[in-house]
Amino acid sequence: MIISAATDYREAARRRLPPFLFHYIDGGAYAEHTLRHNVEDLSGVALRQRVLKDMSQLDLSTELFGEQLALPVALAPVGLCGMFARRGETQAARAADKHGIPFTLSTVSVCSIEEVAPVMKRPMWFQLYVLKDRGFMKNALERAKAAGCSTLIFTVDMPVPGARYRDAHSGMSGPNAAMRRYLQAVTRPNWSWDVGLHGRPHDLGNISAYFGKQIGLEDYMGWLGANFDPSISWKDLEWIRDFWEGPMVIKGILDPDDARDAVRFGADGIVVSNHGGRQLDGVLSSARALPAIADAVKGQLKILADSGVRSGLDVVRMLALGADSVMLGRAFIYALATAGEAGVANLLNLIEKEMRVAMTLTSTKSVAEISPDLLAKAVQA
Ligand code: FNR
Repeated sequence: MIISAATDYREAARRRLPPFLFHYIDGGAYAEHTLRHNVEDLSGVALRQRVLKDMSQLDLSTELFGEQLALPVALAPVGLCGMFARRGETQAARAADKHGIPFTLSTVSVCSIEEVAPVMKRPMWFQLYVLKDRGFMKNALERAKAAGCSTLIFTVDMPVPGARYRDAHSGMSGPNAAMRRYLQAVTRPNWSWDVGLHGRPHDLGNISAYFGKQIGLEDYMGWLGANFDPSISWKDLEWIRDFWEGPMVIKGILDPDDARDAVRFGADGIVVSNHGGRQLDGVLSSARALPAIADAVKGQLKILADSGVRSGLDVVRMLALGADSVMLGRAFIYALATAGEAGVANLLNLIEKEMRVAMTLTSTKSVAEISPDLLAKAVQA
């Protein structure tokens, strides 16, 4: 059993949300092997305990893409956050900003770029999917630029939708989904469409801004389904590179050869990720994929990693496996769904505390000192 603040919030979110939303967050693709391995492989990484080195002064800060971060952590892009808590994207963005770390707004968020960017002091990060509708992509990039977003996270592991059977079972997708979602929602005393959507039924801000009218969940599902683009290749990314002057990070790299291609393309960073086990079940966990990728490209671009991080100890483990920084996905969403901004703020405090314990007991005084040297060699019992 994995025990952490995030897993406590997971249980609270399960009680609070209608089942279709809880399972949308919690679920993965097919039999969810990769989803489980992400968490289990990472929590199985053993570190070397080192003692008696005066660890009274720790520095958890780091620099990433010219920005100073209080922790080597950013909030990952997560779609539909505004359905888990009222104006959820703005609540999570405020908590991240107050803690001194970046917040990434998903393409498919309830709150628009223009609503979220101004609630933060530091520049927002923006995530874009590859979509057939290049007009939408260009419009989103222009709006992100105008809102002062600094870093573009370009997600490339969704050229096709992953098969998420929990969503079909729960009523999130499939025939009569809308009716099942409605019935679940009205039977949850602590949650309602009004709370979740602030009285604006089903509005998906970034997409509505493009079409000039409210786009609801059903319209969105249809639009997204028609817009996955399996033809995407590195060549298609070039116009984005030309258009976007800031740092560009490719999210969804799981193989050293693709990481080398990202270097050749001129990316500023990659996110080693299997989308939290939501795309292809049976691929490597991020924890197992990361060391070979770090061997191939460390130092040539920034390596971010996600999928399976549930604690500050996990953050230190990912850094020891070769990441420069880590993204939190479900860990912060469970907290957001449970207690909004206060929940995310509390989770980040706990992550920081856990990092301090892990760094003290591995005798690493700064983020730069966390290296593969921390990994305990396998010892026969
Ligand atoms: C995601 N993720 C995601 N990624 C992305 O690039 N754009 C998106 O809109 C979303 N939406 C989304 C929704 C939900 C509910 C989840 C759980 C995840 C993937 C996310 O950014 C990140 O890669 C994973 O969440 C990392 O795995 P863990 O840590 O959540 O297990």
